Amino acid sequence: MSSSTPSHLEMPHSVGTTIWQFGPSEYRDVSYHGCTQPQVVLAGVLRFVKPGDLVVDPMCGSGTAAIALAYHGIRTVNLDISANAIQIAKARAANRGLTRYASFSLADARRLPLASSTASFAFFHPPYYDMVRYAAENGSSPEKDLSMCASYDEFLESIRHVIAEISRVLLPSGGCCLQIGDRLSRGEYLPVGHDLYNLFRLEGFSLFEENVKLPPCQALDAIGRSKRWRDRQNFLGRQQLRNLIQHDYVMIFMKSRTPLRTWVFAP
Ligand SMILES: C[S@@+](CC[C@H](N)C(=O)[O-])C[C@H]1O[C@@H](n2cnc3c(N)ncnc32)[C@H](O)[C@@H]1O
Repeated sequence: MSSSTPSHLEMPHSVGTTIWQFGPSEYRDVSYHGCTQPQVVLAGVLRFVKPGDLVVDPMCGSGTAAIALAYHGIRTVNLDISANAIQIAKARAANRGLTRYASFSLADARRLPLASSTASFAFFHPPYYDMVRYAAENGSSPEKDLSMCASYDEFLESIRHVIAEISRVLLPSGGCCLQIGDRLSRGEYLPVGHDLYNLFRLEGFSLFEENVKLPPCQALDAIGRSKRWRDRQNFLGRQQLRNLIQHDYVMIFMKSRTPLRTWVFAP
């Protein structure tokens, strides 16, 4: 890390436990709906790469991963289906003088414009199914935007294609950090994290680590207020409320699979 690296870009202290919660970061562009916290990228990717390595972010949004990694000399290829997102990400990198480390292009993550076996690692932060309708917010093409899929099955099928592409562009020694959250949709709890885990395994990846990421510390007041309101509604018998989903998963996958050991119990 260079001496000019902002102190908040140092590796977060919570690495080393499987419960992650990070504080504010001065350059998290919260105006981009669903942007990640830079510390997630540092904790989830930086441990596995070295300066000069190439990381691919196939759904880069506002480019948080590109910026967090550029401060550490890591090159990134950043793609998104939204022209608006690409413009925001480019501007953020340019404002910090980090463009030599990062390229930004419009692309559908199901067909990555990258040669096979070129990237050391991937940071993959897809839509949480239909939680944020990115095409509606960004004016991108609804047919290509995975948050606009007509059904959950169609969403999973599309994500399967993206994972296959991530696998193709990774070096055999490569890995991928997935950030994802579950979703309540039409009364059903959709275990998006579990389902994406299965898709990674089917594609030949093995799980290296799973972490539960809590909302940013500064969001807890709002959550507390919401929880008090919900508890009161429950107490008054007004509504049968569901628990708020407050956690994300951050899973680290490795491309080369270590075979799972099958335990055989002696009779
Ligand atoms: C959760 S956001 C990523 C946020 C990003 N990590 C950040 O910090 O700003 C998911 C992104 O996926 C993009 N997206 C949706 N469908 C896509 C597709 N088929 N190919 C590429 N990007 C897509 C959306 O435009 C959105 O920016």
